This record gives sequence, structure tokens and C-alpha cells, in this order.
Amino acid sequence: MIGVFDSGYGGLTVLKEMIHRLPEYDYCYLGDNARTPYGSRSFDTVYRYTRQCVRYLFGQGCRLVVIACNTASAKALRNIQQHDLPSIDPKRRVLGVIRPSVEAIGEHTRTGHVGILGTIGTVQSESYLMEIAKFHPHLRVFQEACPMWVPLVECGEHRQGGADYFVRQHIDRLLRQSAEIDTIVLACTHYPLLSEKIRRFTPAHIRIVEQGRIVTESLYNYLQRHPEIEQTLGKSGKRIFQTSDAPELFDRFAAIFFDWHVRSEKVVFQ
Ligand code: DGL
Repeated sequence: MIGVFDSGYGGLTVLKEMIHRLPEYDYCYLGDNARTPYGSRSFDTVYRYTRQCVRYLFGQGCRLVVIACNTASAKALRNIQQHDLPSIDPKRRVLGVIRPSVEAIGEHTRTGHVGILGTIGTVQSESYLMEIAKFHPHLRVFQEACPMWVPLVECGEHRQGGADYFVRQHIDRLLRQSAEIDTIVLACTHYPLLSEKIRRFTPAHIRIVEQGRIVTESLYNYLQRHPEIEQTLGKSGKRIFQTSDAPELFDRFAAIFFDWHVRSEKVVFQ
């Protein structure tokens, strides 16, 4: 199976695109809803939680795991790839969402001024700044942390009027940093759930980039380049959903924005 991991529901915005584009593969989704949000947690905690979840997905039979979470990609991916994988199983692979998003940014901006909206963890890690400096050194990058956005989504408040205040506040703060920003990256997989409001409070000429399709395209390319991994993946269209919190909550909430009915199982970490 292809494992897809997020701190909560956000990774479903990525999995949805994967299932549309690459429906033949078997997927196992894990949402660590009991410990979400990760965005305000320390480096060590995010690393520990993410490593546990990745190991769990390996144990479920995932040869490849996509960390569909920017915070976990920023704070844990490199350590897992460099320090943990060699001892767990060097034949397994873990991919993140930051690199593919950064590679795609260059296609979108004309002014060269790009805004990044993310969690506190993603913004403070400066992962986007560092990666963009490598791939597109001519771009100017402006960041804004939106600590209330993930809790709004996880609590099902993202469509309510009360969310408007927090959405507008962070977009205004980001745009005050540069009048030339023409591209905003939603650098958190939860944020597409707020996209209606984000669009409403963002001037029409600014492009808003979501990660689902970008990460899916990057996965597709990865599988083309790595037949040794691709050939080991199940292709019976199986979908398994797991959550560290209550499955009935997960199923009810996932149905609101995921295109298919979900029946999840509870994960108990050893
Ligand atoms: N979806 C996660 C991300 O992309 C949210 C992190 C959190 O739990 O705060 O960053």
C-alpha cells in the first residue's frame, strides 16, 4: 500500500487527488487526530509522533509513505530519511510535501514575490525559505503563520462566520509584507478546506496554490522513475482509513469534504 499520513484530516485533501489521478493503487491513510494539531508543538514532539506513525504505516504493509503534512515534513522528514530508515528498512521510502510544492512555485509567480501561509511549526522551521532559496534563488518569500486555521478545521468550524475573522487577519498580515505578492501557497494540507474563505478575502489577481495536485503529480513522477518501488505496490484499489481518535468522529467529519464514504479503524500505538 501507499501510506498517507497527516496529523488529522488535512492529508485527505492530498489523498483525494491521489485517488482521482492514481486510482489503481492501494492506500492506507493515517490521521493522528488524537494528537492534532502538530503545528504548535516542538521539533522533538513532532518528530517522535511522526516517526511513530510512519513506523505504524510500515507495519501495515506500506512500502512507501507520503507525509501529507507540511509541519511533519518540515520537522521530521529529513531525520526519518537519514537516521531512521537505514535501521528500520532501507528498502522503504518516505516522501514529503514541501519539495514538490517548492519545485512548482516557479511556474506560478510573475512578480517573483511569493507568500507562504502555514502553521507556526512550518513557518518557524524556515523550510520553505531554505528550499526556495535552493530552487528559485531569485524569488522573494514572505511567510505568515496561521495558528487558528488547523483548529478551526479540526473542530468543523471552517465554514462558519466566526472563521472569517481569523482567515482575513492572516491574509491581510501576509499581504502587508509586500504589495507585489502574486502567488500564495497554502502550505498546510488543512487549508484547502478554508479555500472558499481564503479566496473571498484575497484580491482576485493573486493566485492561490493548493498542494493536492502538485504532490500527486510528483508521486506519479516518482513512481515512473522508481519501478523497483512501483512494482511492489498493490493495485487493487483498496482504501484503508485509520485514526488515533474516535473512528465515528473521523467518518462523519471526513464525509463532509472527502468524495467518498469513509469507514475508519482506530489505531492503538504500541
Ligand atoms: N496538515 C498539517 C500541515 O500540513 C497541519 C499541521 C497541524 O497539525 O498543525 O501542516
